[in-house]
Amino acid sequence: MAKRRKPNSLEYGSPPACLPVPEVSLSCSPWRLSVAPMMEWTDRHCRYFHRLLTRHALLYTEMVTTGALLHGDVARHLRFDALEHPVALQLGGSEPAELAQAAQIGQRWGYDEINLNCGCPSERVQRGAFGACLMREPQLVADCVKAMVDAVQLPVTVKHRIGIDQDESYAFVRDFVGTVADAGCRVFIVHARNAWLQGLSPKENREIPPLRHEVAQRLKQDFPGLCIVVNGGLKTNATIAAQLALLDGVMVGREAYHNPWLLASWDGAFFGLSGPAPERDAVERAMVGYMQREAQAHGTPWATIARHMLGLRSGLPGARHWRRTWSDHRLRHLAPQEVMARAHAAPVREAADALAP
Ligand SMILES: Cc1cc2nc3c(=O)[nH]c(=O)nc-3n(C[C@H](O)[C@H](O)[C@H](O)COP(=O)(O)O)c2cc1C
Repeated sequence: MAKRRKPNSLEYGSPPACLPVPEVSLSCSPWRLSVAPMMEWTDRHCRYFHRLLTRHALLYTEMVTTGALLHGDVARHLRFDALEHPVALQLGGSEPAELAQAAQIGQRWGYDEINLNCGCPSERVQRGAFGACLMREPQLVADCVKAMVDAVQLPVTVKHRIGIDQDESYAFVRDFVGTVADAGCRVFIVHARNAWLQGLSPKENREIPPLRHEVAQRLKQDFPGLCIVVNGGLKTNATIAAQLALLDGVMVGREAYHNPWLLASWDGAFFGLSGPAPERDAVERAMVGYMQREAQAHGTPWATIARHMLGLRSGLPGARHWRRTWSDHRLRHLAPQEVMARAHAAPVREAADALAP
């Protein structure tokens, strides 16, 4: 198979000049705060957008299966912009040799971490015998982790649930973590609810099984030498801070996507940076520049990128018009700077609403 060319950082851009990029060396753990892997959501365009809002939160890719990397279009799955660092590649698979190979490919492409998905409950993933159902086979997960640890110099981490179906025994997740830690995994991202493998859709599986953050805290007590990151239902800086007082890190999923402006406060609130926070208009202008470069380099339509930033102005006057304009596919023939101009032109109706008593 022809060797694929690794993108070079010049080709894939550098931080837009209009945004402050503080030069600091952080003493914090890389896992202190992260944005979760989310299929169809945290693609490279979304991560680029998130990186304009926070320089330091760790960003995760969508899950990429070993099959997709070993037999598919590697560049399509792995291409990313140098601006996105630090960025972790999440893999889906259950065959140690294949995962080792996929991890090596991820390392060659410049990812900062390899993460194994042991938390996805979807039927498609269960048919492939990976994701959450792997929690029933801790020794297999340990073999997978060992194969990857031996194959790459990057941290190999695991994202998992706290139980399967209705079994809420702590011993189950404790033994899972213990077995996998023995194989060389030092970082566990704990989505703090069970995965119910029968009868719930993936969406319901993120909402119905009860959240039990205290299980992550118990894991930290039992494994003080491991880095334990908690995930699930954390939506505000106050709840993030409360978890950080007890645990090594927090991962935020849906709230980061729907309310991306939250991320703009993170460098100051959680990484001790005092520089100027980003401004919404500057972020939007930077995204327009990115859309132009993406269209030129890869023919990417602006709407493919803009869909991820629709929450940027939530709660502000004119947000509805702004959001509608950026999601209006009838404007797809326009250049993105023209779409931005229209998005900021005051709509007659909304302005009238704002004036109404
Ligand atoms: C649309 C969507 C796709 C997701 N895809 C993945 C995935 O590919 N891999 C994974 O480990 N978790 C995936 N998740 C789960 C999230 O990573 C996270 O564990 C979950 O949403 C709980 O965190 P939250 O309450 O902060 O959203 C996905 C979640 C959503 C909403």
